[in-house]
Amino acid sequence: MATTIVNPLREGLRLARTPEPSTIVIFGGSGDLTQRKLMPALYNLALQRLLPGSFSIVGSARQPLTDDQYRAELHDAVGEHSRTKPLNEEVWKTFAEHLFFVPTPDDHGYDALRERLDHLDVELGTNANRLFYLATPPGSYAAIVKAIGVHGLRGRTGWARIVVEKPFGRDRQSARELTETIHQVFREDEVFRIDHYLGKETVQNILVMRFANGIFEPIWNRQYVDHVQITAAETIGVEERAGYYEQAGAMRDIVQNHLLQLLALVAMEPPAAFDDKAVRDEKVKVLRALRAIRAEDLPDHAVRGQYTHGFIEGVAVPGYREEPGIAKDSRTETYVALKGFVDNWRWEGTPFYMRTGKRLPKRTTEIAIQFRVAPHQLFSREASAGLDPNALVLRIQPDEGVSLKFGAKVPVQGIRIRSVNMDFDYGASFMVDAPDAYETLILDALRGDATLFTRRDEVDQQWAFVDPIIAAWAASPEPPYFYEAGSWGPPEADALIEQDGREWRKA
Ligand SMILES: NC(=O)c1ccc[n+]([C@@H]2O[C@H](COP(=O)([O-])OP(=O)(O)OC[C@H]3O[C@@H](n4cnc5c(N)ncnc54)[C@H](OP(=O)(O)O)[C@@H]3O)[C@@H](O)[C@H]2O)c1
Repeated sequence: MATTIVNPLREGLRLARTPEPSTIVIFGGSGDLTQRKLMPALYNLALQRLLPGSFSIVGSARQPLTDDQYRAELHDAVGEHSRTKPLNEEVWKTFAEHLFFVPTPDDHGYDALRERLDHLDVELGTNANRLFYLATPPGSYAAIVKAIGVHGLRGRTGWARIVVEKPFGRDRQSARELTETIHQVFREDEVFRIDHYLGKETVQNILVMRFANGIFEPIWNRQYVDHVQITAAETIGVEERAGYYEQAGAMRDIVQNHLLQLLALVAMEPPAAFDDKAVRDEKVKVLRALRAIRAEDLPDHAVRGQYTHGFIEGVAVPGYREEPGIAKDSRTETYVALKGFVDNWRWEGTPFYMRTGKRLPKRTTEIAIQFRVAPHQLFSREASAGLDPNALVLRIQPDEGVSLKFGAKVPVQGIRIRSVNMDFDYGASFMVDAPDAYETLILDALRGDATLFTRRDEVDQQWAFVDPIIAAWAASPEPPYFYEAGSWGPPEADALIEQDGREWRKA
């Protein structure tokens, strides 16, 4: 009889450790990200009693605020954006007693911050364990890191770590320079580059599905998989992010980080352990094996688009170039479709189609593993007319779950086959709300677990893949292809996959 061997040293490795007493310092502590994501996440961790017994959170920005003003601002923001509602005033009151604000408009501000941190350590017994969080516009990252070093904010005892928000650089060179700057103050194992997709439950579930089950891995390769489709579709337009988005575009905003991370998780080899080194070693191997798209292959492998006016859920919406803050002749892409190949033993010749866009008809992020058709067709073409190829779909948002599509007999006389879905729905199966990605990631950073953060070599490979495509598009006299808001992107993106005899899934 087969037995399961459990290694007691490994069991619960990631579950058991609660964070040590510590201080979180948020630069950009009054910004949108802090208000909508970071503070609601920290409050929800407090609600679940997952924060250390002794802790403090110190917000910082250039504009001054008193502690009381800061607490009042965040009270309203957390009340609005917390995933658990209504705000538990009792928990909030205790939580808010640990909240502070120190402005850092200049050198004096950083000295005042150091004094405040030292003082809080003595008061709360946090032993100078400090998690710095860069939530400012990326142009300020380097100056803030240097200031952390110059003004001795790391503290003399305890650990120091730094979480860096996306975007990490705007190309390979600037990402390398930023890493160099950070390394003047923090070692690589103290740097936590955040990609919030990796904190999502279903994204982590990719690893659990693949490597905790015996049935998927044997067919997870070129022999059985026809192709993979990764889709990240948004219904929203550029909203208030015109300044950032005009410089970034969909390639830098979504493909370089989120889509390539999803690809790496789906395509990676089984790691030897579930720890930061083993998992990231395997992911980076995939990114290294990702075939560069040569300039001459670009038209067949990459399509960029930009939305024009149209309708989303019956409501008229303006085109990208008509949005406030967007240049009337902007060539920024709001849509990207790509065909990639991972040149290794497992995946040789298997296309990975990726697409992302704004103002698409539906908000959805999913990975579809599309399997090869049965080798021999037993049933007539007529009987099989309603049969699609088998697909395993990992739904990442909004309805997190997994579904397996296969053919079943329609209950009528004779044989008629139709595709049906076997569905696993996270909410229905576990009856609990999944934690927000930021809760997971902040807790991991406090514990010192970098498994779900991006290492320097991963970021480097991600930029290495997208840089030449961005450069070729920038050099091209052609504008992006246009697509109507509310459609699934430009017809050229359909052609990209249809030229291979396949089609985009109706997500
Ligand atoms: N918002 C999101 O949903 C989101 C999602 C993913 C990633 N991000 C990333 O998170 C970062 C922040 O985005 P955001 O939307 O929160 O921006 P934001 O609303 O413009 O807030 C920026 C914050 O940084 C502060 N700040 C600016 N320069 C500073 C400096 N030199 N030193 C200290 N504080 C400084 C600002 O306050 P003062 O002006 O008073 O200094 C403000 O608190 C960006 O890198 C963004 O790409 C944001």
